Amino acid sequence: MALFTYSRLSNLLRIYADKPSILRTATEITRGPPCCVQLVRCQRTVDTKALQERQKQHMAKGLPKQKPITGVKRVIVVASGKGGVGKSTTAVNLALGLMANDPSKSVGLLDADVYGPSIPKLMNLKGNPELSDNNLMIPLINYGIPCMSMGFLVEDVAPIVWRGLMVMSAIDKLLRQVDWGLLDYLVVDMPPGTGDVQLSITQNIPIAGAVIVSTPQDIALLDARRGAEMFKKVNVPVLGLVQNMSVFQCPNCNHQTHIFGSDGARQLADTLGVQLLGDIPLHLNIREMSDRGKPVVVSSPDSPEAEAYRKVASAVIQRLEEINP
Ligand SMILES: Nc1ncnc2c1ncn2[C@@H]1O[C@H](COP(=O)(O)OP(=O)(O)OP(=O)(O)O)[C@@H](O)[C@H]1O
Ligand SMILES: [Mg+2]
Repeated sequence: MALFTYSRLSNLLRIYADKPSILRTATEITRGPPCCVQLVRCQRTVDTKALQERQKQHMAKGLPKQKPITGVKRVIVVASGKGGVGKSTTAVNLALGLMANDPSKSVGLLDADVYGPSIPKLMNLKGNPELSDNNLMIPLINYGIPCMSMGFLVEDVAPIVWRGLMVMSAIDKLLRQVDWGLLDYLVVDMPPGTGDVQLSITQNIPIAGAVIVSTPQDIALLDARRGAEMFKKVNVPVLGLVQNMSVFQCPNCNHQTHIFGSDGARQLADTLGVQLLGDIPLHLNIREMSDRGKPVVVSSPDSPEAEAYRKVASAVIQRLEEINP
């Protein structure tokens, strides 16, 4: 067996270092005194760029091709890293706000929270979707908004105990096997977190923009930041942040209290370089009406709460026009 000495190693390295067309490793010889060999990090060459480009092409091949949802012009996702901060409530009122601001636009609502679907309750909808002639599910409609949710396909109280693959297949059904007709906007209510479902959706369909919902509380903001960073990473434009439950106004004495802090989401928006799309107060009416399946934008259109949601809807449209006129 040939003895692999230091001098043989140095010889090898020298041979490769002298060949410019060969991809260099991260180490190279510097010529010091003849008796010693120094291995130092070398600059990557043009060849490395070519390799990175090839790697990128390989990676792209591995990802699913983004395919638009038939008939849908723009998809807006409503997300947050954290659970329970008001995504579903915001998604529903945003969809209604978009329509209230411009009744000529058609808006749909997709509940992507397959484990804990909320849209059936929030939109006061029940039942199984019928199938169209070409075997696509026909969304259920209330308040003029066609809606699709896993909640229409499973029993109300049945726990959804699925492994990852089943969840992916459910998401695929919700994305591809629904007859939306023609929609200007499809608002997608995302599940909490930054996991498989979020990635799968962002990789499978083109998304016009993401709306991140957060309370002004540090712990929620941390997750909201993760959510925003995830969308940036997968090249989905972050339209901005909605600060939810920012102020509570006592219905008796009108005293205002900032239960979760006052300005956290605004500060986070500044840090991330995105816009604050609006402030939604913590309001009993929002909670009560949501629980009754009568979102405030339709049940109390003249209230300041409804106005706050309509403002968010206008800000979303403005941002979409800026990004993609
Ligand atoms: N601005 C608000 N004022 C009062 N109650 C609110 C407000 N926003 C949301 N809520 C209430 O907070 C609770 C959680 O809201 P919601 O279900 O929209 O959160 P979520 O982020 O979608 O939760 P999950 O992560 O579980 O999907 C609900 O009871 C809802 O009615
Ligand atoms: Mg929800």
